[in-house]
Amino acid sequence: MSQFTSFLIVLSLFASASLCFSHPGQTNGGYLYPQFYDHSCPKALEIVKSVVASAVAKETRMAASLLRLHFHDCFVKGCDASLLLDSSGNIISEKRSNPNLNSARGFEVLDQIKSALEKECPHTVSCADILALAARDSTVLTGGPSWEVPLGRRDSRSASLSGSNNNIPAPNNTFQTILTKFKRQGLNLVDLVALSGSHTIGNSRCTSFRQRLYNQSGNGLPDNTLDQSYAAQLRTRCPRSGGDQNLFPLDFVSPAKFDNSYFKNLLASKGLLNSDEVLRTKSTASLELVKQYAENNGLFFQQFAASMIKMGNISPLTGSKGEIRKNCRKVNT
Ligand code: HEM
Ligand SMILES: *[C@@H]1O[C@H](CO)[C@@H](O)[C@H](O)[C@H]1NC(C)=O
Ligand SMILES: *[C@@H]1O[C@H](CO)[C@@H](O)[C@H](O)[C@H]1NC(C)=O
Repeated sequence: MSQFTSFLIVLSLFASASLCFSHPGQTNGGYLYPQFYDHSCPKALEIVKSVVASAVAKETRMAASLLRLHFHDCFVKGCDASLLLDSSGNIISEKRSNPNLNSARGFEVLDQIKSALEKECPHTVSCADILALAARDSTVLTGGPSWEVPLGRRDSRSASLSGSNNNIPAPNNTFQTILTKFKRQGLNLVDLVALSGSHTIGNSRCTSFRQRLYNQSGNGLPDNTLDQSYAAQLRTRCPRSGGDQNLFPLDFVSPAKFDNSYFKNLLASKGLLNSDEVLRTKSTASLELVKQYAENNGLFFQQFAASMIKMGNISPLTGSKGEIRKNCRKVNT
């Protein structure tokens, strides 16, 4: 190796190190940075965006589904694409967990993105980074804020069904349980409220909120914090039994638009999930944030972007840890 080449290598090491250190919001020690693929796969970001854009053009809801996948990935062993693995050998897929079964969707879009990237630059872009980019692109495509996505995550060689069941909050968890589950990931109340704003797009199944309509506390009564005419409307298509898979918009005002109407709905007692409503009813600090975001869309957007970067930094595999999967559904052989 010539002296000049070694000089360049040392120089670029310094350059990338300073990039890492100058990037705020990296709380969990992952050395991620937005320029990670600039040389190894300069078209990566464009390719992800164009596949996401055509999937969302075909079905608007796909934006919501892809955004949610990044969350369900990051809360289980970090943002390592463990969620994308199918069952095989000694891997039990996280797709079977309570939060994901009959609910998590968009996996074929990830396959499409991955195969386009494998053509352009084989064995280079991780599935975990694709999830982070697709979440950002989905937010932008539906009218939400943009941010630069720190990159350089690698993919896990295992999945955790129990992690998926235990770490991802359930819609009927108490406020305290939900907050505890966020704190376990290094996220705080501000992140919880801002990220719950994701429920400005997408759908929920009847089964995820039925309890509120009929028997909230096991006393045979509906949730009395829910607007009564809204509740009556919901009951027409979410009966006491049956209709489990019937879909309802999480934000009935503008279900396909990423905006702050989710927070306005909460203030009107028209949050769909119990986990949404408790942000208003169970903590004054949380209620204060809900009010701020309902009043100030710009503030919501700014905090949402910051919290997404923070969530995307949960325990990434970097350096020589993990691998770059060739197929997001399988570990490399
Ligand atoms: C705070 C705790 C949270 C709980 C309890 C929760 C729970 C749920 C539930 C029950 C659904 C409906 C699933 C179904 O019935 O099929 C849902 C949908 C959704 N969630 Fe959350 N969620 C939470 C936080 C988040 C976060 C942090 C994000 C993203 C950063 C997110 C993004 C979404 C999106 C976009 C949808 C709609 C998905 C679609 O239409 O395919 N959620 N959530
Ligand atoms: C929450 O919902 C799950 C699944 O429907 C149910 O098994 C559980 O009993 C509920 N928990 C509470 C506290 O109501
Ligand atoms: C409400 O839930 C409780 C506890 O899960 C159950 O014992 C009771 O029978 C239910 N009541 C009605 C009216 O569904």
